[in-house]
Amino acid sequence: MTRYRLLRTLTITIALWSGSAANVVMAQSSAILEGERFHPVVGEHGMVATSHYLASQVAHDVLEKGGNAVDAAVTAGFALAVTQPRSGNIGGGGFMLISDEKSGKVIAIDYREKAPAAAYETMFQNEAGDAVPRLSRFTHNASGVPGTVAGLAMALDQFGTMTLAEALAPAIQLAEDGFIIPPRFAEGLAQSRDRLKQWASTRKVFYKPDGSLYRAGQRFRQPDLAATLKRIAAKGPREFYEGETARLIAKEMKAHGGIMTAEDLAAYHPSIREPVHGTYRGYDIYAMSPPSSGGAHIVQMLNILEGYDIHAMGFNSARTIHVMAEAMKRAYADRARYLGDTDFVDVPLAGITSKAYANELRAEIDPNRATPSSEIAAGHPLPYESNETTHFSIADDSGLAVSNTYTINFSYGSGIVVDGAGFLLNNEMDDFSAKPGAPNAYGLIGGEANKVEPAKRMLSSMTPTIVKKQGKNFLITGSPGGSRIITTTLQVVMNVIDHGMNIQSAVSAPRIHHQWLPDEIRIEDGISPDTMALLEAMGYEVSQQEAMGAAQSILIEDDGTFTGGADPRRSTSSAIGL
Ligand code: DON
Repeated sequence: MTRYRLLRTLTITIALWSGSAANVVMAQSSAILEGERFHPVVGEHGMVATSHYLASQVAHDVLEKGGNAVDAAVTAGFALAVTQPRSGNIGGGGFMLISDEKSGKVIAIDYREKAPAAAYETMFQNEAGDAVPRLSRFTHNASGVPGTVAGLAMALDQFGTMTLAEALAPAIQLAEDGFIIPPRFAEGLAQSRDRLKQWASTRKVFYKPDGSLYRAGQRFRQPDLAATLKRIAAKGPREFYEGETARLIAKEMKAHGGIMTAEDLAAYHPSIREPVHGTYRGYDIYAMSPPSSGGAHIVQMLNILEGYDIHAMGFNSARTIHVMAEAMKRAYADRARYLGDTDFVDVPLAGITSKAYANELRAEIDPNRATPSSEIAAGHPLPYESNETTHFSIADDSGLAVSNTYTINFSYGSGIVVDGAGFLLNNEMDDFSAKPGAPNAYGLIGGEANKVEPAKRMLSSMTPTIVKKQGKNFLITGSPGGSRIITTTLQVVMNVIDHGMNIQSAVSAPRIHHQWLPDEIRIEDGISPDTMALLEAMGYEVSQQEAMGAAQSILIEDDGTFTGGADPRRSTSSAIGL
């Protein structure tokens, strides 16, 4: 099979690349040499791929007992809120794409957080009119009105077969009985201790009574979170928005000068949206529409790249990386200018995703030289920060596929636990433009279209994506990674369609990223120094930094075999087939 043959080529190529730094991708490179790691997990009846093995396990159990992919996805979403509190959440929001082969429909549930009613354009600026990042990241006002509970409940109600109480049961058990702490969990809390310990409510949940750290191998219980989940199971999703949980959130806000009120919570509802649709070399691409920028720009970049014979140009060759980076720069420049919540602003979506526009943009690309970002547009970038979101993909043999990305923005969001309710609040308000031209934590620039307005959703990069082949679900993917989400997802799609990789190779292969500003190609370990030198000769600045994204993905082969690729960049990632 071509995909498996390519694995061998990739193995040899990556062996030749072996660099020096001992990061995750490097570890993966040597695993490739051993020959086994890059084989996908397979299944006959379905597949789950999430960033935590306990969430994968409970989702798998749902499928095994006859639940569908949406039942499994909602169960996984709640389980991740317990087992991976740095990004799994009920205090945040996200997007879920659902493809139903039988009806041919692909729909998107937008459960992104909303700005509270009292939010205003300059709320994250000081008196001099400068953006103050601390305000939009580490205070009670950093939090948008959470959408996760309403969004997951809506998915279950419209497409699932289980009750909400059934979908919540594994999460409740994991919170109540606890689970054995994996190293990644302990390390995350150790790294973020200074930030998290500032809040008594957060200390109480995530650190021992004497303030010391939980260690890997110990059991971790969350009684307050278990009680919150039980209330939701007993009373339904509106409990979070109008019941005791809402009261606890409003009380937390009031005690610390936050503007979010009980009325904001009661007013929150998710929206069903039409995903962005495009085509790439005959495949149908469905990805998230605004308020995410992900769908618009993955389609835009694919349209530009369709004009090149990427397969012949070679995987991660300098020529391929060059045209990818040029496409990325142009897409991210448009993102800064045009993208925002379409409930509030007009976004020229049809134009951005049209083949004709892509032809125009492609014509600007010099095959031999980098176009400086300053010639594409201007801005003032900030360096990247390390952060966390989580993506999962689930598919079943009834023709349902789910691609879900949700987040509280930073690892552990704002760092603030709602006292007595046991969950962390997001700091998604930082995804608004605090001021036109002021970058957010990912160095992303925004303008008028993404200014803070009451009840508006902040622009996102989350890109849950479903690719269909001749009407059948084919590739289910997406990723965390802030600004790098769109390009990470793009590369999984290209690795499969252009380079014929199996899903594990497509997910594991070294990635690159350009976001227009800063004007640099960011690369993972695993790109050869020769390639870097060629790129530098074309005028690029090349910067090697830590691994990007965690693209838990599924590919369904033509014969119906489900193949899963868990991303080795997260040590708890797990794909399970059935
Ligand atoms: O919605 C967004 O685009 C960001 N809040 C996502 C943040 C993220 O992916 C963090 N990390 N890995």
